[in-house]
Amino acid sequence: MKRLLTLTVLIAFPLAASAQSLVDKGRALFNDASLSGSGQYSCATCHPMNGHTDNKTYVVVEVVADGDPKGRSTPTLWGAGSRQAEWSWAGNIPAIETNIRGIIVNRMKGSEPSKETLDALAAYVKSLPNGPAPFLTADGMPKDTAPADVKRGFALFSGKAGCMTCHLPASYDKKGPEDVGSGGPFKVPSLRNVSKTGPYFHDGRFKTLDEAVAFMWDFYKKKNDSKDTMSDAEKRDIVAFMRAL
Ligand code: HEC
Ligand code: HEC
Repeated sequence: MKRLLTLTVLIAFPLAASAQSLVDKGRALFNDASLSGSGQYSCATCHPMNGHTDNKTYVVVEVVADGDPKGRSTPTLWGAGSRQAEWSWAGNIPAIETNIRGIIVNRMKGSEPSKETLDALAAYVKSLPNGPAPFLTADGMPKDTAPADVKRGFALFSGKAGCMTCHLPASYDKKGPEDVGSGGPFKVPSLRNVSKTGPYFHDGRFKTLDEAVAFMWDFYKKKNDSKDTMSDAEKRDIVAFMRAL
């Protein structure tokens, strides 16, 4: 037993150390503007604060008006390692390395990255934790200590509002794009950290969570021919739950 333990420590420790150095290398590259053709943009330009979002909508590297049909809103990378959805707003890129390569070559107009560069960037991005969510359990459910409106909001979200048919805990996203009548099939985005990631939807068309919730409920109600109604107070409870994510 003791020998097994020693062996485990010997094998696991160097592995953990090299994984950490890959993450460190990725962090340096993430902040390195020489990845872009112009030398002006690093990943951190648009994903500041350790991979979060700058809350802007882009065509390539140009900021455009929120809601521009060609624009894409910058997603947060917090919690990227624990998501279920595939990558990009189209939600159809299985490997994060493929997605990052596309960003370097097409968006940043940089030269072809090496496999080592892509591996390091992928390791760093996947290491980024979600923001603090003191009212959530590890499974993404409200704790007993959560405020009453958060608990009511979760009951609606997972019940008559139908949200949990697509936004599945603990990351509150889903594998496979869905067409919710927003202009085509798009990724079901993670709702973790969502109070800090506006503007919302692929093109940044909604400034507030209230608008996004109203749109989603109208879609769900119509699609399922639901006779349920949702009061403004109930919508506010759903927003309170999402602010706890
Ligand atoms: C000019 C701003 C900008 C820069 C620079 C940038 N990104 Fe992004 N990033 C975006 C936008 C906008 C999207 C959404 C694009 C889409 O999906 O169509 C995105 C999407 C992503 C995604 C997919 C996230 C998801 O949830 O599907 C990852 C991963 C990512 N970026 C990592 C990086 C890395 C790594 C770099 C540096 C090599 C980088 N980004 C540089 C704006 C930027
Ligand atoms: C059929 C699947 C489906 C259902 C049901 C659903 N959603 Fe969504 N949700 C999506 C998709 C797909 C998007 C992205 C749409 C886009 O970008 O154009 C989205 C986007 C969102 C966003 C914006 C997130 C962001 O980062 O931009 C919020 C907030 C949201 N949903 C909340 C809800 C709530 C609340 C409900 C229940 C009333 C709900 N959703 C029901 C699929 C679904």
